[in-house]
Amino acid sequence: MKLAIIGSGYVGLVTATCLAKQGHDVICVDIDEKRVEMINKKESPIFEPRLKEYLEESNLKATVDLDYAMENSDVCFVCVPTPSNEDGSVNLDYVKNVSIAIGERLANKGYYTIVVKSTIVPGTSDETIIPILERESGKKAGEDFGVCMNPEFLREGHAIHDFENPNRIVIGEHDKRSGDILAELYSVYNCPIIRTSTKTAELSKYASNALLATKITFANEIGNLCKKLGIDVYDVMKIVGMDNRVSEKFLNAGIGFGGSCFPKDVAALVARSKELGHEAKVLSQVINSNKEQRMKIVELLENKIGSLEGKKIAILGLSFKPDTDDIRDAPSVDIIKKLQEKGAKISAYDPKAMDNVKKIFNEIDYAQNAQNALEEADACLILTEWNEFKDLKDNDFNSMKNRIIIEGRKVLNPENVKDFEGICW
Ligand code: UDX
Repeated sequence: MKLAIIGSGYVGLVTATCLAKQGHDVICVDIDEKRVEMINKKESPIFEPRLKEYLEESNLKATVDLDYAMENSDVCFVCVPTPSNEDGSVNLDYVKNVSIAIGERLANKGYYTIVVKSTIVPGTSDETIIPILERESGKKAGEDFGVCMNPEFLREGHAIHDFENPNRIVIGEHDKRSGDILAELYSVYNCPIIRTSTKTAELSKYASNALLATKITFANEIGNLCKKLGIDVYDVMKIVGMDNRVSEKFLNAGIGFGGSCFPKDVAALVARSKELGHEAKVLSQVINSNKEQRMKIVELLENKIGSLEGKKIAILGLSFKPDTDDIRDAPSVDIIKKLQEKGAKISAYDPKAMDNVKKIFNEIDYAQNAQNALEEADACLILTEWNEFKDLKDNDFNSMKNRIIIEGRKVLNPENVKDFEGICW
């Protein structure tokens, strides 16, 4: 098939490279010329395992020219960001602008399929996107063009794996013809394909992420209780997760969830519920508890070493999770801010995310490796479970001034390292 992918963030690029690998003709469209240039040079503008390799193998093209991309495609995927407004509600400006641009170009085309992959609150396809497309094109959805909502369930750091090994593919179809086209495109993947309404597809993405965020928050709540009881939440949750009605996944307690999806999606669902006259009490509390959870590591640190004024704190791990350089809503950022407010000096190390953190905190010390960050430190906080931290040994911590080691994620191996504790263990 001839495909245009609009938006070359991690969802757009992963979709583009994986579909190109299946033999489709793919054109990426982005407003950022630098990004387009990089893609055409087979350089990945983001760090995502295997993405560079996939780009190098593919023959996909990138352009800033939407006219060219639509002239040379029969289906386009909308993969533009849907960030948060101040009040947590979803900001649909990019989606609206792209809908206008596509609508203007639909006027001169035969039947064309628009697939929305951007995360949009329930009702957006029917109430916002389709009316814009019809207004701008003067054409009728379902007759002259088709619209599908096809949520993505890609984890950063595993996005290519997740694209190629989906648990399920959801096709929210406004019209059967476009649903058939998308079902045909995805027929190579070995998983259930659920064909449903656009609204059900839209909500299924939010409901999935909201439930996972709730599971983590629940584990954190039990974890905070475990800390008071002097037991390890991982021992408790292992038992809980063995019940196959629950599953052991997403029960890892710690400093809570971050990233570009969970915090934004839960807030957007709360805001959309409010708009519709429903108060999403559980999810509102998930947001609040998650914010408080990150600060518990600072409280624990103060309980151990008292005032943080002038103390050197080594931070190991800055990205919101391992295998990414992404620091969007990373707990590390809030924790560093709080430590600075309390007068601490920070020495940080992360295998991938330091360049991104430098854009926020220029003044803190960035170390070459974990061992350098630990030198003369009064305490160490581990905030991301990077594999290389799992290999740290007892003597790696010997250069610290005080041996206070607190994990915000379960990382260290007790067989290799003595005298450390976790936020909930
Ligand atoms: C998430 C969803 O998993 C994916 O399906 C969706 O489409 C995009 O959002 P992502 O944000 O990449 O993916 O990361 P994920 O692996 O889900 O982790 C999110 C956050 O939760 C991270 O900060 C992670 O450290 C935290 N987490 C995850 C926990 O604190 N405990 C867990 O048990 C699992």
